[in-house]
This record gives sequence, structure tokens and C-alpha cells, in this order.
Amino acid sequence: MPMPYDGVHLMSREIIKIKVGVGRVDAVAGAAEVTVVGVFSDGKGGAVFRKLDKALNGGLSQVLGLGDFKGEANTTAVVYGNKAIGARRVVMVGLGDRAKLTVDAVRQAAGRAASMAVDLKAKKAIFALHGDLPKKLRPEALGQAIAEGVHFGAYRWDEFLGKGNDKDGRPAAIGVVIAETDAAVAKALGEGVKVGNIMGEAQNFARTIMNRPANVVNPPSLAAEAKRLAARTPGLTCSVMEEKQIRAKGMGGLMAVGQGSATQPRLIVLKYSPARARGRTIGLVGKAITFDSGGISIKPSEGMQEMKFDKSGGVAVLGAMKAIAALKPPVQVYGIIPSAENMPGGMSYRPGDIVTTYSGKTVEIQNTDAEGRMILCDAIHHAVMLKCDVVVDVATLTGASVVALGEWRAALMSHSDRLIERIKAASEACGENVWHMPCGEEYLELMKSKIADLKNIGGKWGGACTAAAFLGEFARDVEWAHLDIAGVGMVDGSKKFGSPGSIGYGVRLLTTFVRNEAE
Ligand code: BES
Ligand code: MN
Ligand code: ZN
Repeated sequence: MPMPYDGVHLMSREIIKIKVGVGRVDAVAGAAEVTVVGVFSDGKGGAVFRKLDKALNGGLSQVLGLGDFKGEANTTAVVYGNKAIGARRVVMVGLGDRAKLTVDAVRQAAGRAASMAVDLKAKKAIFALHGDLPKKLRPEALGQAIAEGVHFGAYRWDEFLGKGNDKDGRPAAIGVVIAETDAAVAKALGEGVKVGNIMGEAQNFARTIMNRPANVVNPPSLAAEAKRLAARTPGLTCSVMEEKQIRAKGMGGLMAVGQGSATQPRLIVLKYSPARARGRTIGLVGKAITFDSGGISIKPSEGMQEMKFDKSGGVAVLGAMKAIAALKPPVQVYGIIPSAENMPGGMSYRPGDIVTTYSGKTVEIQNTDAEGRMILCDAIHHAVMLKCDVVVDVATLTGASVVALGEWRAALMSHSDRLIERIKAASEACGENVWHMPCGEEYLELMKSKIADLKNIGGKWGGACTAAAFLGEFARDVEWAHLDIAGVGMVDGSKKFGSPGSIGYGVRLLTTFVRNEAE
């Protein structure tokens, strides 16, 4: 069989490098291309704002007075330094309602400002955001959120833009210094920044892989990427099952979906094993369909290009494993990523096929486009075989979840109320939103087949819930939860942020969840 052509070597430039630190610099005197200060929608600036405003002879308050900028969330204004201060420009970023300020609002404002700084081609920026914020917000949490926000907002996915297309000339790297003169506060901020840099880097690593198209990322090349990550990451190992082993193990679901493509399926298993692991072993399972054409039950052509993002759950697991290995929580974690390409062809699985999955349960295929659950059921069973106590799967599983929740919340299903609460807590802490949906007996009924144990589609309605109920059948022996990220995983970030493509949803949520479980 001819080898598919892989275009990795065509990438023309490196992704922007981003680093956040804390410096004992004065926000007014500090030299930078951009200095960032936050403003609430009541228009009242804090101490840092007033100092900058005074040095600029009222240049900041004038903008507010004119009403050109009101401090509302997701807005910015630029004022030029004109040699009156150390920085060439001040970017005012809106923090919204003072009473409603959350750590996530700070993360978003930092992202907005960082995106602006990259658009202004800044190589160095000073952030004085935290100085004017209510004291009830802990400096560690602020440092982390600001660093995460900077990584998020400064990121650009432009590695395939040719050299002649570089008219904007964005900087190769941007360094952000959080200005703090108080040593104790600087230390606390720094602790948070360390975590934020790790989270932000892992999330952007995931975004880049999510964004890459299916002629570049296929199951073998994704597996190679996972191996490279493990090779350079202490504490992380990676083993990959190739087609022969997948077949020999009896992973009929993964085989069925993978067999229609010229690129063969893989089961990627990452393991993070700390020296002193305690408590329960966690399995993170992520769907990595590198392209979902629908297979024989082919999708309409409109919008099909978005189905390169159907690997986002698996790549979120990859990114989370990178962050977990760097943050070193004392708990053992497996990252299990079943990967296949869902294509129509002479070798494809068909509607009507009856597939025997790794667990031994049989599944009647009624629609080859319901492929995610077919690869996940084998991977979840593998997590059970590896003796995971807690299993969280994450997948761009159903259009129905997008209909229900839109683009800014993932659906969360589980049989365990405890796990629902734990994941909700992680969600609130990290700013990646979830919404609890059902997956109980009434939905499972719709997944039962007359000629096999299960079928792979339910009725017309409640598609996100029936899909989850199907997966839950393979996780009866463990505490399990499912995140359907179809809406948040496919959203085009350029609608809200600086870079086109993925927002890397799931990296922060899974990492935060694991860190909390280890406590
Ligand atoms: N990857 C898709 C889910 C999807 C659809 C994500 C739209 C984002 C946007 C999944 O494999 C799929 O095709 N699901 C089907 C299931 C159906 C055949 C039961 C769907 O949702 O239509
Ligand atoms: Mn599909
Ligand atoms: Zn899919």
C-alpha cells in the first residue's frame, strides 16, 4: 500500500515562544514596548493606574472621560507613552464589573492584553494587572491565571504561513514581566506563574497539534509525537500498540473504525508514575479521530474540514500528560489515546456489521459516523485492564452536545455524583466550563440491540446522553466520567481570541482535576 504523504517538513516557521516571569520593576519607570494595566467598568483605576495616569498627564483618564473605553470586559485601549514613562505604550484592559471579578476574568483580561501586545509586535511587555485588584484574590492564583492568560492570548497558529506571507512580522518570542516591588507578593506571584507557564505551554502544545490538518496528523504521526514528548519528559513513558497488537488484543472497535483508512490505527498509552504515588490510579482517555469523514455513512461536505479537530479529546489528554509530568502530583496517571482515521473505502466497516469489542460486548453498527464511541469503548476497557480506579474520557463525540450547550461548555456525564462534583470543582478553578447532563438507564435502553449487546446509535433525540450511556457500559467496574467537548473542541478561537483554530479545551481541566485528586 502506498504511504500517505506527510507534510510536516513544509511548516515554515516556529510557533511564537512565550515566557512569563515576575520582576521587581516599577510599572511607571519600567522599560517595555507595552505596559498593561486593568480598569474596571466603574472607570475607577487603582493605585497603578493613578501613577501611570499622573505621569502621562491624565492621558489614561482622558480616554475614560471621553467614553472611548469604559473598562468593560474584553475591551482594550492603547495610550502612547511619549517618553513620559518607561514604556512606549500603555494598554488598558477592561476587567468588567468590580463586584463580579473572578480569577477567570483576570485570565481572560490577561489573554486579551497579551494578544494586543503581539499585534503591536512587542517583544517585551510589563503587566501591572494584579496591583489594582481586590485583595481577596490570592497572589498565587493571580500569578497562575495571568500566566495562563498570556500564553493563551499571545499564541498564534501560523506555522504554515509561507515566508512571503509574513507581512505583519510578529515577534519570534514575547516575554512578559509581572511588575511587583514587594518581595513577599512577588514570591507568591512567582509560585503561581511557574504553574501557569507549565499549563499555558501544555495547552498551546495541544492547540498546535489539534490545529494541524489530517494530511500531517494521522494515527502513526500522532503516536510518534507522543513518543517524542515522553522521550524528553522525565517521569513520562509512552508505549504504542500498532495494528497487529490491536488486532491480537481483540480491540474490535478500534480495528473496525481504523480499517477503512490508508493510515493504520494506534493505541497510545502514556504513563506518569511519580516516585511516591498515593491514592487511586487515574485514567484519562481521549478520542483521537484524526479525520472524521463519517466513513460509509459519509458526512455532508459542508464544514467537513472541521473534522480535523475530531482528535481534540486525545490531544487534550496528551497536553494534560505533559503538564502533569511537569507539575508532578503524587498520583499515578495513564493517558490512553485511541487513534484512527474514519474514512470510506473498500476496507471500511459498514452499517449492519456486528463488532466484538475488547470487553467482549458486541455492537451492531447502524451508522459508521458514530465512530468515537467505538474506539473509546476499547480504550476505556483498556483503562480498566490497567487497573485504573477513576476513568475520565474526553471526546468530540456528538453534534447533539453542541445543539444542547453551544460552543462554551462541555457536557459532563457520570454515574458518580462524587466525580461530578470533583470535575465541577476543577472546572470552576481552571475556567474551562462544563455542564452536568444525564446518562442513566432510560438512555441506555435506547442503545440496546436485538441482535447484539448494544447498537452504536440511539434514537433521534438526546444523542449526547445516549452516547454517554453507551460508554458507561464499558466502565461499570470503575468510577467513570465523560466529557463531550464537541462544541468547545471545534470552536474557531479567532471569533474570540487572536489565533485561528483550537482553544485547546481540556488541558487545564484534566490537569487541574488530577492535581486536586492528588491532594
Ligand atoms: N465527531 C462527530 C461529532 C461532532 C459533530 C463534533 C459535529 C463536532 C461537530 C462524531 O463522530 C459524529 O459524527 N457523531 C454523530 C453521531 C450520530 C451518527 C449518532 C453526530 O453527532 O451526528
Ligand atoms: Mn463521526
Ligand atoms: Zn467523530
